[in-house]
Amino acid sequence: MTNPHEAAFIQSIKDPAGFWAEAAQEIEWVRPWDTVLDDSRPPFYRWFAGGRLNTCYNALDRHVAAGRGDQPALIYDSPVTDTVKTYTYRQLRDEVALFAGVLQSRGVVKGDRVIVYMPMIPEAAIAMLACARIGAVHSVVFGGFAAKELATRIDDAKPKVIVSASCGIEVQRVIPYKPLLDGAIEMAAAKPECCIVLQRSMQPCDLSAGRDFDWNEVMARARPVDCVPVAATDPLYILYTSGTTGQPKGVVRDNGGHAVALHWSMKAVYNLDAGEVFWAASDVGWVVGHSYIVYGPLLKGCTTILFEGKPVGTPDAGVFWRVIAQHKVCTMFTAPTAFRAIKREDPEGVLIRQYDLSHFRALFLAGERLDPDTLKWARQKLQVPVIDHWWQTETGWAICANCLGLHHYPVKEGSPTKAVPGWHLQVLDPIAKTPVPAGEIGALVVQLPLPPGSLPTLWNNDQRYIDAYLEEFPGYYKTADAGFIDDEGYVFVMSRTDDIINVAGHRLSTGAMEEVLSDHPSVAECAVLGVDDPLKGQVPVGFLVLKAGVRQSEEQIVAEVIQMVRERIGPVAAFKVATVVKRLPKTRSGKILRGTIQKIADNQAYNVPPTIDDPMILEEIETALKTIGLAGARSGRK
Ligand code: COA
Ligand code: AMP
Repeated sequence: MTNPHEAAFIQSIKDPAGFWAEAAQEIEWVRPWDTVLDDSRPPFYRWFAGGRLNTCYNALDRHVAAGRGDQPALIYDSPVTDTVKTYTYRQLRDEVALFAGVLQSRGVVKGDRVIVYMPMIPEAAIAMLACARIGAVHSVVFGGFAAKELATRIDDAKPKVIVSASCGIEVQRVIPYKPLLDGAIEMAAAKPECCIVLQRSMQPCDLSAGRDFDWNEVMARARPVDCVPVAATDPLYILYTSGTTGQPKGVVRDNGGHAVALHWSMKAVYNLDAGEVFWAASDVGWVVGHSYIVYGPLLKGCTTILFEGKPVGTPDAGVFWRVIAQHKVCTMFTAPTAFRAIKREDPEGVLIRQYDLSHFRALFLAGERLDPDTLKWARQKLQVPVIDHWWQTETGWAICANCLGLHHYPVKEGSPTKAVPGWHLQVLDPIAKTPVPAGEIGALVVQLPLPPGSLPTLWNNDQRYIDAYLEEFPGYYKTADAGFIDDEGYVFVMSRTDDIINVAGHRLSTGAMEEVLSDHPSVAECAVLGVDDPLKGQVPVGFLVLKAGVRQSEEQIVAEVIQMVRERIGPVAAFKVATVVKRLPKTRSGKILRGTIQKIADNQAYNVPPTIDDPMILEEIETALKTIGLAGARSGRK
């Protein structure tokens, strides 16, 4: 007997068109599709070709029409401003329709891009949904990125309008957004026609005459506009994510496949029904925020929580439990790092006991590997299933999960359980490109076509899409994660195969940081590695080889490169440690031995690679790491 997960999985692989056509019945279409899966132009696949719909209509208007108008759609809970504000579906639809009117009055039409550079405030979700309403393509940029990163995205997306706010609020400080916005526009070659800026009372900003408009003023004059039908295959948004260079990848999401997949995932993966409360404690700047703060819960008719705060320090490590209790959250989603932060402050979970969490059903974690300690702690303290699931910006929703709405499997520590229906996941030998036996590590790849909701391409860059994801394993999408599948079908995700690191659940490119470090006039050569960190999972550490005859002190150079990364990439890079070394260990062919340096830094035993040009360098590296508090007594050669 197959269980419902197995049955759904098998059907989704044998008959993807039939499987997803059935799921698509749950979405309201202006015009039905001609072809469920258009595979006429491989490797480019399109879902629901010929179909027309509007994502905003499906997320808001449809629920109002169905009698959910007075149900809370979005609860903004902001401990940093001491605010809780609820928008019903009707109120949210009306605000979105008005802001869509604002955008239209500024000349934004279907297909135009709008960048949203905002903190975690309801206006960010309103701006996203307003774009969807008129068929404009939003691109949200995370607030922790610096002006240069924003400029790169402006130049790639070429937005007609940028929507921003005067400031964001971090635990210890107010972050003025306007100087970053102005700096980015100045740097960018593609200038927006205007900016709409929400003035926040904690730190209002000056508006540039002629270019900037006050959110409240334009909203007061706006007329609501209706939903514009778009093709299922039209882009809904672009979300930039770290690639292997300083040039981020513009992941494209379509309208039709995205609405179908996310709606389906809310029940199948998270076991949520319309009317229930779902909370993803992330940021709208990340894919988790797009999929599970904004679109997924609203498409399903749930209540979503938009939380402007941190797991600790706003005001304490009990804030998650307060939010769950106060808003009757059924299911929560966050990154393991948030739980590590809470566990560090409240190891006994004393604060948990102060709240009534009786309606809380499950905790989902993703964004980085879930370490067994955090899993056990969360499970023991919360007494609910703790579900690890694995996905990426590119995939838009979970590749692997314990799908609570289909079948609850026993949890195996270290595993996000099994492939979700739709994802034909395999493990291939990176050299032979053939499947490896169960239990053996290889490249985690997904057989094409990818299910709906995953990226159809990169923005304006079909070739980079092919090169980055499809080239290496013909017929498959390369996740760039390595791992294995055991003989019961449980998947284990071990590490990235590229230079992406995960810092506090945030995806960052060490290659991009190396580009910044190399720009320092005293640096001849450099390497950035992600080393283990008990709170953030990984943190970047820089190794600098200086040019001959440099007069500056090493301390000064280190301080300068740290500042450069903060200024060019942003505080989110959490680049705070660098050290000067005489040489970097390399193979005879000149490749830096990153794996070996990493093992030394992570206190793991390492082999001296036979290809190394000079084994003495490893001792120098170990000494350098010890001086900055990394590489302890446990490290050493095998
Ligand atoms: N705007 C401006 N700055 C920001 C920012 C934003 N939106 N978000 C983060 N930053 C800054 C932080 O203030 C910090 O600055 P600092 O170097 O001056 O201290 C820096 O970027 C690094 O941020 P972060 O890595 O988040 O560290 P933190 O110490 O502020 O918080 C955690 C650590 C674990 C509490 C926090 O990262 C967290 O809650 N993460 C889990 C949830 C999550 O967002 N996951 C994402 C994917 S699900
Ligand atoms: P992002 O695109 O920011 O969502 O980051 C995606 C990457 O984070 C993946 O490719 C993995 O390397 C890592 N990741 C996400 N979820 C998990 C998980 N549950 N277990 C292990 N790694 C994960």
